[in-house]
Amino acid sequence: MPGYELVGNEELKEISEIFSNGSILCRRGFDNIRNKCFKVEQFEKEFSSKFENRFALAVSSGTAALRVALASIGIKEGDEVITQSFTFVATVEAIIESKAIPICTEIDETLNMDLDDLKKKVTSKTKAVIVVHMLGVPSNIEKISKFCKEKNIYLIEDTAWGCGGKLKEKLLGTWGDISTFSFDFAKIITTGEGGMVLYKNLELFKNGMAWHDHGHDNNPNLPRWEDSRSSSGFNFRMSELQAAVGIAQLKKLDYIINSQRKNRDYILKSIDKIDGVQFRAMPDGSYDTADALIFSLKNKDLALLCREELLKINISTKILPEAYTWHFAETWIHMPELIRSHNFKLSNAFPISRELLSRCVSIPISVNMNIENFMKIKNILLKILK
Ligand SMILES: Cc1ncc(COP(=O)(O)O)c(C=O)c1O
Repeated sequence: MPGYELVGNEELKEISEIFSNGSILCRRGFDNIRNKCFKVEQFEKEFSSKFENRFALAVSSGTAALRVALASIGIKEGDEVITQSFTFVATVEAIIESKAIPICTEIDETLNMDLDDLKKKVTSKTKAVIVVHMLGVPSNIEKISKFCKEKNIYLIEDTAWGCGGKLKEKLLGTWGDISTFSFDFAKIITTGEGGMVLYKNLELFKNGMAWHDHGHDNNPNLPRWEDSRSSSGFNFRMSELQAAVGIAQLKKLDYIINSQRKNRDYILKSIDKIDGVQFRAMPDGSYDTADALIFSLKNKDLALLCREELLKINISTKILPEAYTWHFAETWIHMPELIRSHNFKLSNAFPISRELLSRCVSIPISVNMNIENFMKIKNILLKILK
């Protein structure tokens, strides 16, 4: 979550350039007064070159990115889209907002999508799978991608937490047909609010580019007010201000991940020999973003006790065990579409995920953390596990 820790002079300098070049705050138009200053385009170009030159489309949030991704593949009413039970509500909201049917799978010990459950839940109506690299740990993306290809189903990677993470040296966000990123204030790099969609395929990118901008083709031979259009759409455009911040933040991405991994490893080493503490599993070849250090204890009561003790020394936990209701589909009884698509038995739809999540403790990792304080976690664990 450290992007926000490092917002400073570099971001200010990028923003100042906008004000020195006509103060145009939107991505298109006013060409005669902006002195070739196009921050959204620049951010997309630089993001793309970091991610295998995939086609990059900057949008207004990570939630918008998911919605645009689904629109790009022509999702329609009655299509099924499968995601995982442990994610943020946004993933399922985007499916519902697309009028598709949301289906969730169980998670496995990696706390990401369980491939065996995915195989059981695919039907002839499944149009896409949205796999989430939850809290920056790679999902089983190599195998899931192979399976989706065999089944001819679109694979979308929700990389909201996984920006800069890798599996087998290949960046998360470059495995699927489309991937989405969030730059909200809690993410690894931030633009305040913002997101990105990455495409492997040019035609899908063009669909997304038009759809996120009211269907505009942005025909270079026509003024914008007479522009041709080929689809319906919406407004999910990113502003020049957000993009300026994004350009500066992107340059800090590798430093952020290296620092987080160093901090995480330091804390991990201090507790990795304690009996009764089991660390989150990761697929072989994982290079996670180290947004959190997650371990599980014997039961839910111990996990809650651990949180209580951590709070006494001013260490808060991140999502688990206290806040999983925003991140666990079984608890989303405010979503009638999700209840319906799980046979009106949502409250018992994911027993394996519930059991795994309820025992977990997630320690937030950042760049500028007071590492000495975190060394006290060892004593807390020894005390509660005695
Ligand atoms: C897994 C996941 N997907 C999507 C989003 C949505 O991103 P945003 O807050 O930028 O809309 C989030 C936000 O936390 C998330 O955790």
